[in-house]
Amino acid sequence: MSILQEQDVLKSYRILGIGATTLIGAQHEGDLDYMAAAWAGVCDYDKGYAVVAGDHYTRKLIEKSGKFILCYPTASIVEQTMKLGSISKNDDPNKMEHCDIELINEPGFSIPLVKGCAAYLEYEVIKDQHSDNPYEMIFGKCVRVVSDSRVYSNNHWHFDQAPDELRTLHYVAGGHFFAIGKEIILPEYGD
Ligand SMILES: Cc1cc2nc3c(=O)[nH]c(=O)nc-3n(C[C@H](O)[C@H](O)[C@H](O)COP(=O)(O)O)c2cc1C
Repeated sequence: MSILQEQDVLKSYRILGIGATTLIGAQHEGDLDYMAAAWAGVCDYDKGYAVVAGDHYTRKLIEKSGKFILCYPTASIVEQTMKLGSISKNDDPNKMEHCDIELINEPGFSIPLVKGCAAYLEYEVIKDQHSDNPYEMIFGKCVRVVSDSRVYSNNHWHFDQAPDELRTLHYVAGGHFFAIGKEIILPEYGD
């Protein structure tokens, strides 16, 4: 049985809310690329953004396809995350083969996904005047979410019951990450 469990797109803000480092992926006419992006977050219940610099190869694929994947690599693929964030497909057309990643095909997603992530979200690019902004942000509406049910199920994170290698990554700079820490729950505030 698959460990991936479908989640509610209208609650996808809860996934983005922990501010973890992401991988952003896109594909156009069979040309696939993923890059690391630490600067990504929530802008509505089912809408998110990522800062994707204009010269990145992934950005060209997002602009051509009108779609992108935002996913949350776990500590188990920290080396691969660093490679995806250090090699550009502008320089290395075989980037994907050189980053030691495994791709998986998940029903309902338009492109292959990088194995080893805690959650996978597909977005359709929102085209409005704010998309062409000087900060190189790309905005998207979430159309599908699945998560690794060992760390996120029924629309809630629960890292403390899972092995440490499934913790999300939180990037500082220059190869320095934190894996997410202990949770604190105040039950009187509900869920
Ligand atoms: C951990 C990490 C986080 C990064 N975050 C961002 C980011 O938020 N936005 C961005 O434009 N580039 C970011 N980068 C840089 C890109 O991932 C990197 O330039 C990548 O090689 C671009 O690949 P591409 O040209 O194949 O798309 C990050 C790199 C690392 C290692």
